[in-house]
Amino acid sequence: MSEPTLAECQRRLEQRRREVKITVSGASGNVVKAGDVRVSCFGGPLRDGPGVCEPSEADIEARQQARQVVISGALAASNVPLRHANREPLDRSGPWNVAYERILGKLGTGFTIVLAGLRGNGKTQLGVELIRQFILTERRGSALFSTATQFFMAIKAGYDGQGKPEAKVLAQYRRPRLLVIDELAQRRESEWERLLLYELLNHRYNDLTDTLLISNQDVRQAELSLGPAIVSRLRETGGIIQADWASYREKV
Ligand SMILES: Nc1ncnc2c1ncn2[C@@H]1O[C@H](COP(=O)(O)OP(=O)(O)O)[C@@H](O)[C@H]1O
Ligand SMILES: [Mg+2]
Repeated sequence: MSEPTLAECQRRLEQRRREVKITVSGASGNVVKAGDVRVSCFGGPLRDGPGVCEPSEADIEARQQARQVVISGALAASNVPLRHANREPLDRSGPWNVAYERILGKLGTGFTIVLAGLRGNGKTQLGVELIRQFILTERRGSALFSTATQFFMAIKAGYDGQGKPEAKVLAQYRRPRLLVIDELAQRRESEWERLLLYELLNHRYNDLTDTLLISNQDVRQAELSLGPAIVSRLRETGGIIQADWASYREKV
């Protein structure tokens, strides 16, 4: 294989500069630094003329490990449950994966989707995997995982003067480019909760951000508990996906 030209080296370095977002010490002692095109993990400093651009195996491994640390940190920051963040291997062969791919394909389109079905068949896991994939591929914005109860409790804490004011909590839930709200069926379904949820979802609908709502109810119950205003937005931007496959709990 012929040696790459200096221009090719610079192109690859630029590409890697965009990929590597953190500073990490490579196994060979070199430092890979975001924004530093003098990175030396590619077999030595660039010379005038043709150079060697390939990273050593140790450098690749160090970078992969560092990437794992970053991903785990980002997952924790997005509040996903630890149990689901660490679940592997995942069954990618059946209907769970079909639903996952279907939702994944709509990432970035401003969807509102409800995933509804009986307990144990991987709905929370699907939400977590969606956030993981968002972290792996998206360069802008953040992702947030929350149960419905956490959302309403955060709002209530503001009323008691113990937490952030309602507007701030709403802003915090409005901001992420991907929001997963789990355990929707645990709500008490008061008018107050319905209004708040509508307020949040309507903002997110207007902002073209993605929202996945997860419910352990069947589709009919989920529709009834969300109310017609939310259901009509769902129908327009994503719809209700029925998780009607078998539970994983008996298998794990
Ligand atoms: N695709 C999958 N492959 C293997 N295990 C899975 C998969 N999806 C979920 N699980 C595991 O099955 C259990 C139930 O999944 P969970 O997402 O909590 O279900 P649900 O939210 O629908 O009640 C969890 O331990 C989860 O990690
Ligand atoms: Mg669940």
